[in-house]
Amino acid sequence: MTIKKVMVIGAGQMGSGIAQVCAQSGYDVLLNDVSEEAIQKGFGHIDKLLTKSVDKERISEQKKNDTLSRIQPTTDIQKVENCDMVIEAIVENMDVKTKVFRELDASAPSHAILATNTSSLPITEMAAATNRPDQIIGMHFMNPVPVMKLVEVIRGLQTSDETYQAVADMAKELSKTAVEVNDYPGFAANRILMPMINEAIYAVHEDVASVEDIDTVMKLGMNHPMGPLTLADFIGLDTCLYIMEVLHDGFGDSKYRPCPLLRKYVNAGWLGKKSGRGFYQYS
Ligand code: CAA
Ligand code: NAD
Repeated sequence: MTIKKVMVIGAGQMGSGIAQVCAQSGYDVLLNDVSEEAIQKGFGHIDKLLTKSVDKERISEQKKNDTLSRIQPTTDIQKVENCDMVIEAIVENMDVKTKVFRELDASAPSHAILATNTSSLPITEMAAATNRPDQIIGMHFMNPVPVMKLVEVIRGLQTSDETYQAVADMAKELSKTAVEVNDYPGFAANRILMPMINEAIYAVHEDVASVEDIDTVMKLGMNHPMGPLTLADFIGLDTCLYIMEVLHDGFGDSKYRPCPLLRKYVNAGWLGKKSGRGFYQYS
């Protein structure tokens, strides 16, 4: 199938990055969010990154303008009626996502693929909320999207081979490397990454070492580009907590219990970089 027009739902840190890479690769993009402010912020972020690329002489001014002109902001989800593909990147909450998938299923053309950028939630359950379970799939980008090469392509129980192939081909068009993953809690990436982050939070909670020193251990000791607590702030502590809850509920194994300190920070509204405070303070 040919994918030309893509709707990206959610203009937060992931949605704006996905919209950017799609537009850079020549797709027409509708960037949707419930919040007009979030769309403006997301669009502004894309503009800033493209301007930086022009300044560094990586792309021309013309390429920047062409890319921006391919992104149409909209708060109207009904505009999905003209799209071949949807990539949903809203909050990591099953009830909110299934509600959006029902709306999309009702309005999107029958050929359209509905993909989710969920970090951990079951694709099969989202698919069951629609009348096209064979066209529902996970397309899990990594943060920051314009930089990270990986996309996990996750097959729900009923995802068709045709849908899988179209999404794997699209990932290639976006200059990403796709890996095929089956539908289990946290898929592959977050099943491995998030328990490490959660353990680093336990180490803070139990006063094993300071926040800075734990990050230094993993940066200088294991050559990670960011320490786990910096990375948790970067991902968003709310998203980290949701993912740990999905792992805990999905496997029923106490080894995935979220650290109480993580829960406390989220309850306080300390969501990491995006809220200005997490394990570190951002001004
Ligand atoms: N958005 C877009 N581009 C960004 C960016 C952002 N938020 N942050 C940095 N970059 C770009 C910079 O512009 C720079 O690009 P140029 O080379 O074109 O100038 C490049 O990345 C390198 O940036 P810096 O030199 O400033 O910093 P760095 O060398 O420390 O790299 C990093 C930044 C790429 C983010 C690096 O720290 C890194 O790889 N961190 C780990 C990221 C990671 O683990 N991501 C996965 C998170 S888990 C996930 O995504 C799954 C999930 O479901 C939660
Ligand atoms: P974010 O908080 O930065 O952005 C979410 C956006 O969704 C907000 O702008 C919000 O206004 C919007 N939104 C909420 N409900 C909506 C609705 N019903 N319709 C349209 N827009 C709606 O979150 P994020 O970090 O970009 O994460 C988005 C998704 O991507 C989550 O499923 C998350 O698990 C996944 N993800 C996150 C990361 C990460 O590192 N943060 C990495 C990979 C995948």
